[in-house]
Amino acid sequence: MTRRFLVPAIEVKNPVDVLLAEHALHRRLLTVFERIARAVEQGGEFPSSDVAAVLGYLREFVELSHQRREQRTIYPLVMELADDKVAEKVGQMLADHEETTELMQSLWLFWEPGALRPDEIAVFVQLANAYIARLRRHLALEELVLFPPAQNIDEKRRTEMLADLEQHDGVQRDAAAWSAVVAGLEERWIG
Ligand SMILES: [Fe+2]
Repeated sequence: MTRRFLVPAIEVKNPVDVLLAEHALHRRLLTVFERIARAVEQGGEFPSSDVAAVLGYLREFVELSHQRREQRTIYPLVMELADDKVAEKVGQMLADHEETTELMQSLWLFWEPGALRPDEIAVFVQLANAYIARLRRHLALEELVLFPPAQNIDEKRRTEMLADLEQHDGVQRDAAAWSAVVAGLEERWIG
């Protein structure tokens, strides 16, 4: 009888589940951002501090943390495991990352501690809607194309990838901290 019958295997968490949980949080944040954009478009006061929280999430968690960790873990893994057609899509997803980064930087240019002029509001709403649509499409594409080939990696690679995903590159807040920020925004914008 071998040892494995005596010692139950410890289930190593799947790194894809970590990324899926972060995607779920991104989607919640995007729903809040959509509500904010709609309210501002309909003449509501510019909610400066909530917009700063949303843009902070997008810059620090989506762009500087989540997407970078994906680029150095799951993207190379999928390039190695999947066929040419999937590898082509990886290129498209890298381009998406650049596009959302640029949109996020443009959005920050419109952030003001006070009110925006009507012309600024129109551009802010346009940029916000573009960002929301791009990121939603990108999350769905990653889940469809990238995550399935990465589902069945062996335990050694899972462990390595999980450790790598936990490296947040000096970014201050992790998913748990950001989820508290999202919950606060949801209370005010979704109820
Ligand atoms: Fe992602």
